[in-house]
Amino acid sequence: MLKESVLKALSDQVNAEFYSAYLYFGMSAYADRLGYRGVANWLYVQSREEMAHAVHIYRHILERGESPALGDIKAPPASFGSIKEVFEKVLAHERHVSDLINKIASIAMGEQDHATYNFLAWYVSEQVEEEANAEELLSKVKLADNNTGAMYNLDASLAARKFVDPFPQTGD
Ligand code: FEO
Repeated sequence: MLKESVLKALSDQVNAEFYSAYLYFGMSAYADRLGYRGVANWLYVQSREEMAHAVHIYRHILERGESPALGDIKAPPASFGSIKEVFEKVLAHERHVSDLINKIASIAMGEQDHATYNFLAWYVSEQVEEEANAEELLSKVKLADNNTGAMYNLDASLAARKFVDPFPQTGD
């Protein structure tokens, strides 16, 4: 079983991961409307990964004999100022998610819930990667800014990204 504080933090994170998925879904649609199909694909794949992150936490809660409290998922912004702004927001959002994960890990440690703390280790590492990827993409977009050819090439490279199940052993 889970302590109340850990259950609440994990349930909130299920919601936060679904919001991340929703946010990247919205960004993907925005990029698609602008004609950046590669950027749209990258964000769509990112959105699918976020859903897998949410489901994996949901399963952890169930495995520990509890039910997650599923709350409303707020709507993401409908539009963005530019592709550069999209990636600025991706980076800011991933930094925010890192803070959330660190806070849950602190709560789990405070409650001596070693199973949850251990479970969260994957997310802690993942956030390092998520932030690094977002920083790299933002740098590339800034370098390509106002250069149609460079943006075209960047967009083409992002079209190659394919969804890889982060939890193939459980099929989450
Ligand atoms: Fe669920 Fe983008 O981290």
